Amino acid sequence: MSATDSHEHESPIKTPQQLIVVIVLSFVVPIIGIILIAQLVLGGMHGASDSSSAQEALAQRIKPVAEVSISEGGGAASGPRTGDQIVKAACAACHATGAANAPKIGDNAAWGKLIGRGLNDLLASAIKGKGAMPAKGGVADITDFELARAIVTMANQSGGSLKEPAAPKASK
Ligand code: HEC
Repeated sequence: MSATDSHEHESPIKTPQQLIVVIVLSFVVPIIGIILIAQLVLGGMHGASDSSSAQEALAQRIKPVAEVSISEGGGAASGPRTGDQIVKAACAACHATGAANAPKIGDNAAWGKLIGRGLNDLLASAIKGKGAMPAKGGVADITDFELARAIVTMANQSGGSLKEPAAPKASK
């Protein structure tokens, strides 16, 4: 009995292989622990454990001011965007504030003059761009129909009562 007892008090590591396993584990286990803790802390800092939405939020915050992309969320595949969507995503950057002397949404006098020229004229002008206004409001993938809708939306929020243009018959 006493002979086997004395064996139990020996180190459980008896072969070089076991020694290697123990050494490797003693490095790997704390590292995994550190990684898990780091993830927990970083996740908490973003206020969301979903890192893809945190990245999106970050991209949103640091995206260049002049670059406008409203094709997220399907773009053409989900059909033409409404005037409201376009205005919020693209035009409001300048037209909500009147930046660079853009006719401000809600400035009925400024828009009254524009509306008097007719939607077709405004559309042609918006397609080309005018002064500080970039061609198509800076939205490369916008259709003429969407652009017209956005103009109607802004005009009608500024005392106008323009009619939405008819949707084009094409697949869009
Ligand atoms: C980078 C700023 C900016 C953005 C973005 C912008 N605009 Fe403008 N827009 C302007 C400025 C500045 C003017 C005034 C141009 C002038 O009269 O010289 C203007 C003028 C216009 C006019 C009147 C053009 C004319 O012939 O007088 C229309 C219509 C218009 N914008 C529509 C839009 C629409 C629709 C969008 C979104 C798709 C948009 N804009 C996005 C700056 C912008």
